[in-house]
Amino acid sequence: MHDYAMPPYRIKMVEPIKLISREEREQALKDAGYNPFRLRSEDVYIDLLTDSGTGAMSHYQWAALMQGDEAYAGSRSFYRLEETVKEITGYQYMMPVHQGRGAEQVMIPELITHDHMYFISNIHFDTTRAHVEIAGARAIDCVIPECFETEIYHPFKGNFDIIRLQEIIQEKGSENIAGIIMTITNNSAGGQPVSMENMMAVSKIAKHHNIRLIIDGARYAENSYFIKQREQGFKQKSVAEIARETFALADIFLMSSKKDGLVNIGGLIAIKDDLDLFRKCQTAIVPKEGFPTYGGLAGRDMEALAVGLKEALNEQYLAYRIDEIKYLGDLLREGGVPIQYPTGGHAVFVDCGKIVPHIPYDQFPAQAVCNALYIEGGIRPVEIGSLLLGRDPDTHLNIKADKEFMRLTIPRRTYTFQHLEYVAKCLIRVYQNRNEIKGLKFTYESPILRHFTAEFLPIE
Ligand code: F0G
Repeated sequence: MHDYAMPPYRIKMVEPIKLISREEREQALKDAGYNPFRLRSEDVYIDLLTDSGTGAMSHYQWAALMQGDEAYAGSRSFYRLEETVKEITGYQYMMPVHQGRGAEQVMIPELITHDHMYFISNIHFDTTRAHVEIAGARAIDCVIPECFETEIYHPFKGNFDIIRLQEIIQEKGSENIAGIIMTITNNSAGGQPVSMENMMAVSKIAKHHNIRLIIDGARYAENSYFIKQREQGFKQKSVAEIARETFALADIFLMSSKKDGLVNIGGLIAIKDDLDLFRKCQTAIVPKEGFPTYGGLAGRDMEALAVGLKEALNEQYLAYRIDEIKYLGDLLREGGVPIQYPTGGHAVFVDCGKIVPHIPYDQFPAQAVCNALYIEGGIRPVEIGSLLLGRDPDTHLNIKADKEFMRLTIPRRTYTFQHLEYVAKCLIRVYQNRNEIKGLKFTYESPILRHFTAEFLPIE
């Protein structure tokens, strides 16, 4: 018997899923232009596209929905959410938004004061990068080099490269840095955590140069749990205390609450104490998201979020959550499949550059493996590699990703260990037949965020 954490819940409601035949899967993928994003979810057996808004709510959350106060302005539900967010973060101001990118579209332009500014992040998530570029700034990633050595153990592969961060600030001039964005956990690196020590160093540098520090905290609870598990001096602290210490280091918190908010829709902007910035965001949010006390959410959404934010800090829940990912990672490693090791918070990242080295980066090796896994088992993963990275906004050339990852993203409180065993079995089979996998060429490519809508043909 294995020694993984037990789930602190039981299943009360089920959603039937079905594995369609291999022929049907082949047709569905062809119809989707060989892009899993374009599949109908009905044609998917196990959906590992994202952990965003795909989790199961608790019965407490479903009950809270009924208390939703649907007032346009100043609803009871807003104040309940505001109180929860203030308690968790220690920040003075907050606004709900419809999801993470809503927070980005409101906040990011407010931080840009002149032309040719930069944001620096451990790694910008793709929508964050897009909003930086849409607002006319440029995004620079600055993660430690160990991040891309997938086989080497490092407890905090999401960390900033502190020396490089200082060099970039010197090179570009601190007055040209619009903000430093701490992505926790570092999604694009494999849901890899960032240590408190590293965040403290980043915070010190930001303060020294008078640069705003922004937490992109979609998975801040998972990050706090890793700190408790892996960093010296935190064993005795609660995850909520660690989260509070994290927030104290920064000025702004942007959150896609579809992850560690345990809801299907929702997001947050919170500001520590800058009233002027809060007022600017209050003005900007109205035409973009909605009135500042609902920001695109219904009262019932805010109620569910207020409960979900608390549940996501429950340590039994987090222990099981993190162990689910580890379990899938362990099964794959036993089967010889190369993955980002150790596994991170929300997904297993499979190192497809090592699986299909015969496919060049601009034929999208990880996307090709995603397609193979769908055909094999009706499983829908997502590419996190050169396809997602897109083209250089200045030269329009394809950017080569450091790693061609396939992400097996685990929705919260949704699948069982048996589902994960099936995923491992199918992927090991794909791995054994890896030489048959072919690269892809575009038949359609959009100019921005192309991975969502692109269409392909396999290169025969
Ligand atoms: N920041 C991070 C770190 C994210 O992972 C995401 C979304 C966002 C911002 C944007 O939030 O989707 O609510 O608008 N990540 C999802 C994913 C989509 O699949 O990783 P959103």
